[in-house]
Amino acid sequence: MNILLTGGAGYIGSHTIVELDKAGHSVVVVDNLVNSSEESLNRVAKIIGKQVPFVKADVRDAAAMNDLFDKFKIDAVINFAGLKAVGESVAKPLEYYENNMNACFVLLDAMRKHNCKNFIFSSSATVYGDPAIIPITEECPKGQCTNPYGKTKSMLEEVLIDLQKADPEWNVVLLRYFNPIGAHQSGLIGENPNGIPNNLMPYITQTAVGLRKELGVFGNDYDTPDGTGVRDYIHVCDLANGHVCALKAIERKCGLAIYNLGTGHGNSVLDVVKAFEKANNLKVPYSIKPRRAGDIATCYCNPAKAKAELGWEAKYGIEDMCRDAWNFQKNNPEGY
Ligand code: NAD
Ligand code: WQD
Repeated sequence: MNILLTGGAGYIGSHTIVELDKAGHSVVVVDNLVNSSEESLNRVAKIIGKQVPFVKADVRDAAAMNDLFDKFKIDAVINFAGLKAVGESVAKPLEYYENNMNACFVLLDAMRKHNCKNFIFSSSATVYGDPAIIPITEECPKGQCTNPYGKTKSMLEEVLIDLQKADPEWNVVLLRYFNPIGAHQSGLIGENPNGIPNNLMPYITQTAVGLRKELGVFGNDYDTPDGTGVRDYIHVCDLANGHVCALKAIERKCGLAIYNLGTGHGNSVLDVVKAFEKANNLKVPYSIKPRRAGDIATCYCNPAKAKAELGWEAKYGIEDMCRDAWNFQKNNPEGY
């Protein structure tokens, strides 16, 4: 299939291009580079041996999107484009609602005008809020998101569910990602955050490379085995491969389908620090800090549905994720 990746120059998108290419799909990328660099696509070209067509445009630009669909015959769209920083979304709610919602609306409208009705949406474990059950299944009721970023994911899920109900020709797959970390084994592409990282793994790798003095561990008094927050970390290449499997569901005309993409294993903050130190033979200085507002104690999934219906399961473990995250950071100490 010919797949349009919105936000394809970003962290998950760039890794997904590699997996799609491996599976024999062709790819077109649209990105406005607000949180990425075109260099990621040059690096992808080194991995897959060819440059993918790239349109530098904002997905909210209806004329640009209609032109794109006129120019390329697109069979399915994976919508990675969006702003994703939780804290920033609290400070700039209008920017987050406007960008994430409008980009999706403009895209869906251009798609239906061009009779392309196959859509994969980057959703998030954040839609479960403080989860009612652990491990989280897809049947777990959606919870109260504490930030505008999470609310855009939850609201767009509802929009897509209504769209598919109104027009069953649409195939819509909602992929709820848990915590993607790590990088492609080549060390050429990886996570490249702007400024001070919000997320755990980039903070660890930047501390290890000397860009940050020490990691702050946000709370050690949660109701978890060691008191620090527990998450379902998933290797970004496993996550990328989940999109290849979701396309098979689309080819089978799945209608609406919702999947958790995680490993099913929870690791605490200190587990991740220890795994990183062991995998890379390094020390990561850290100190315990107060809890971060909005954090929950534990979040990990039951990934059985994706295994049963998509034949997908994560194959990398936490030490692989730590090794590959470090490999990218040490090869690219200043990012791209
Ligand atoms: P990312 O920021 O690296 O990639 C998103 C890309 O979208 C960037 O390249 C950015 O430039 C682009 N973009 C944003 N708004 C755009 C617009 N209006 N027009 C065109 N391009 C635009 O983030 P990522 O980690 O690769 O995440 C990809 C998707 O997965 C996002 O929707 C994110 O919310 C979702 N997600 C990410 C995580 C995570 O922890 N990384 C977890 C769950 C869900
Ligand atoms: C993981 C754990 C922190 C940084 C976020 C979004 C979520 C999803 C994934 C997009 C927590 C602790 C972190 C640090 C720390 N993104 N931590 N020191 O919060 O699970 O999820 O990213 O959809 O929506 O909320 O990920 O990596 O920020 O935190 O102790 O410097 O690490 O408290 O327990 P989180 P994270």
